[in-house]
Amino acid sequence: MAARVICFLLAVLFCASCKVITSLDQMCTEKEASKIYNCENLGLREVPNTLPNATQFLEFGFNFLPTIQNTTFSRLNNLVFLDLSRCQINWVHEDTFQSHYQLDTIVLTGNPLIFMADTSLNGPKSLKHLFLTQTGISNLEFIPIHNLENLESLYLGSNYISSIKLPKDFPTQNLKVLDFQNNAIHYLSAEDIDILGKATNLSLNFNGNDIKGIEPGAFHSKTFQSLTFGGTLSVSTVLNGLQNSTVQSLWLGTFEDVDDQDINSNMLEGLCRVSVDVINLQKHSFSDFSSTTFQCFTRLKELDLTQTHLKELPSGIKGMDSLKKLVLNVNSFSQLCQINAASFPSLIELYIKGNLKKLDLGVNCLEKLENLQKLDLSHSSIEASDCCNLQLRRLTHLQYLNLSFNDPLHLQSKAFKECPRLQLLDLAFTHVQVNVPHSPFQNLYFLQVMNLSHCSLDISNQHLLTGLPALRHLNLQGNHFPDSTIPETNLFQNLNTLEILVLSFCDLLSIHQQAFHSLGNMSHIDLSHNRLTGDSIDALSHLKGIYLNLAANSVDIIPPHLIPFLSQQSTINLSHNPLDCTCSNIHFISWYKENLQKLEGSEETLCANPPSLKGVKLTDVKLSCGITGLGIFFLIVFLFLLIVLLSFAVKFFLRWKYQNI
Ligand SMILES: *[C@@H]1O[C@H](CO)[C@@H](O)[C@H](O)[C@H]1NC(C)=O
Ligand SMILES: *[C@@H]1O[C@H](CO)[C@@H](O)[C@H](O)[C@H]1NC(C)=O
Ligand SMILES: *[C@@H]1O[C@H](CO)[C@@H](O)[C@H](O)[C@H]1NC(C)=O
Ligand SMILES: *[C@@H]1O[C@H](CO)[C@@H](O)[C@H](O)[C@H]1NC(C)=O
Ligand SMILES: *[C@@H]1O[C@H](CO)[C@@H](O)[C@H](O)[C@H]1NC(C)=O
Ligand SMILES: *[C@@H]1O[C@H](CO)[C@@H](O)[C@H](O)[C@H]1NC(C)=O
Ligand SMILES: *[C@@H]1O[C@H](CO)[C@@H](O)[C@H](O)[C@H]1NC(C)=O
Ligand SMILES: *[C@@H]1O[C@H](CO)[C@@H](O)[C@H](O)[C@H]1NC(C)=O
Repeated sequence: MAARVICFLLAVLFCASCKVITSLDQMCTEKEASKIYNCENLGLREVPNTLPNATQFLEFGFNFLPTIQNTTFSRLNNLVFLDLSRCQINWVHEDTFQSHYQLDTIVLTGNPLIFMADTSLNGPKSLKHLFLTQTGISNLEFIPIHNLENLESLYLGSNYISSIKLPKDFPTQNLKVLDFQNNAIHYLSAEDIDILGKATNLSLNFNGNDIKGIEPGAFHSKTFQSLTFGGTLSVSTVLNGLQNSTVQSLWLGTFEDVDDQDINSNMLEGLCRVSVDVINLQKHSFSDFSSTTFQCFTRLKELDLTQTHLKELPSGIKGMDSLKKLVLNVNSFSQLCQINAASFPSLIELYIKGNLKKLDLGVNCLEKLENLQKLDLSHSSIEASDCCNLQLRRLTHLQYLNLSFNDPLHLQSKAFKECPRLQLLDLAFTHVQVNVPHSPFQNLYFLQVMNLSHCSLDISNQHLLTGLPALRHLNLQGNHFPDSTIPETNLFQNLNTLEILVLSFCDLLSIHQQAFHSLGNMSHIDLSHNRLTGDSIDALSHLKGIYLNLAANSVDIIPPHLIPFLSQQSTINLSHNPLDCTCSNIHFISWYKENLQKLEGSEETLCANPPSLKGVKLTDVKLSCGITGLGIFFLIVFLFLLIVLLSFAVKFFLRWKYQNI
């Protein structure tokens, strides 16, 4: 009975979360009851009557609404977010949103707008985000400015705008994002920039506009959160034009399809007269890369030189004491010392990811970076036969080290003792060879997260993970255990702080009942994609309230004595197992149906046996495993025979007794 009630309640809940509202040929999807609806791409010409008045978030794109007016959405006056992308809207009439006081976002992307009435955006008390991307706008006078006092972001990308001159009384005081990507803006005048004056923390995007000229003094004493000039052919025009301005983040990178000139040191001179914290120059080429290139970089806090065709950084770079973050991804260094790290003594973060050549870590190349906390050397074809103490010498403050996706690394014992403060070590997909019988990770007292997935590790080494007293998260995905089994004594024995353990794709067949006995603080264990059977669950029976993933294993029957253990966990994933749906598994199947709230992936949790139920969802299986009619018949016959036999026996006994009197 209880089970039925639970099932019924679950069914109701389930329906509530994905109800489909039908109205003739249109169907909107309900994402959250009377709140969030998606009516995209249904060929609608009006708002369906079935949408509740209380709807707050409506995705209505890809329908057909050539004109919108005060009646179109009048019923839905609780709207907060309205997406009308590509609805072929040409006309936005007076007072279209007059009673939508709470509307904060209107998306009109991809509509060929011909007319927007002056009062079309009246109503919303705090319209914050307006998307007018790809709407054919060529003149900013087109935008009705009434009621935009609270506007924070205005997206005007991919239009035909040639001048950024906003209407004089445009309320810019709260503006934070102004996006002019891919327009035809080539010149910025002082007057244009002046109108933006009241916006104090503006991010201005000019990507894909080739800026050919900026009026001298246009940016004088102006302040911006970020300026983006991606794809501008002349970097010097931009830098000279920005004179005397303060820009937190300046994006001056380029794109593959832009045919711009190489940068030389003279072109960067303008930067000396701009106050910039962060600069990105990705994908440019430098014609005379030398220490002079850096002469105007001295006040930078972050420098991004991703994919700038660098083979080395020059020695003799001076004054880069402010730089905290240096990004040198996708370049062609052959040895780590070629970055002349000593020139950047204050670095906290260094990224050399995706190096295009085999990167040799060299010896002591980073030893001057005493403050370095984060080092990313992933995907850089690094190979080392005796790692990593000489290579990472004196990085005493390093907390994050990413060496994933590299070539084979041979780790010595205490291989990271130069970085005693490591908190995260990622060696995923790097073939890790340990030449010593001890742990290469010894004495990493602060290490919390270690990713050793797909490292081809020798897991039989019981001491592999000793000396990690703070480890909380260990990923061993894709490593193979000898004999496909985790024995009683194993490398998990000292990891009693572990909370998350990933052992998926480890080709495991079995786990000893005591294998995890020292892991008392687990909250998440992923054993998916192995060949484990139901009996392996025994190894976890001392754990409570965990997330357990057993998906894609060989679990067919779960023995009744393990069911109480499943009950005490918080979430279990048993999808993609060859589950047995016969009476031998009836205890588990009944438990399963009563505990659906604990189970994830039940859509893929299917029967494999008996053949008649193959592919049926476990939730849909109905088994009756009581005594059958035939069984009752035989039982009656048996009892009858027994009575007959007994009465004969009694008769014989009495006769024999009387005969002897
Ligand atoms: C819509 O506008 C028309 C013309 O201005 C007006 O008569 C009508 O009352 C308005 N409808 C609503 C629902 O406000
Ligand atoms: C929804 O709004 C319309 C028009 O404002 C009103 O006539 C109708 O009664 C409302 N429906 C409900 C269920 O409140
Ligand atoms: C400026 O904007 C940035 C991001 O848009 C935000 O992180 C920062 O806190 C803002 N600063 C101020 C002073 O509002
Ligand atoms: C920049 O500021 C300096 C000093 O205030 C001034 O002399 C110079 O003219 C300014 N440059 C521009 C282009 O406004
Ligand atoms: C390490 O780098 C790889 C590849 O760049 C990335 O996928 C991974 O998320 C990084 N690891 C961490 C912990 O950030
Ligand atoms: C390794 O695991 C960490 C922690 O789960 C994760 O952040 C990182 O992205 C993983 N690395 C790779 C290469 O997937
Ligand atoms: C177990 O986990 C909790 C919560 O994350 C943590 O506070 C506690 O210190 C951990 N205990 C041990 C022995 O690691
Ligand atoms: C169950 O686990 C499998 C394997 O890890 C995963 O692909 C699937 O998404 C999980 N199911 C759910 C509902 O998270």
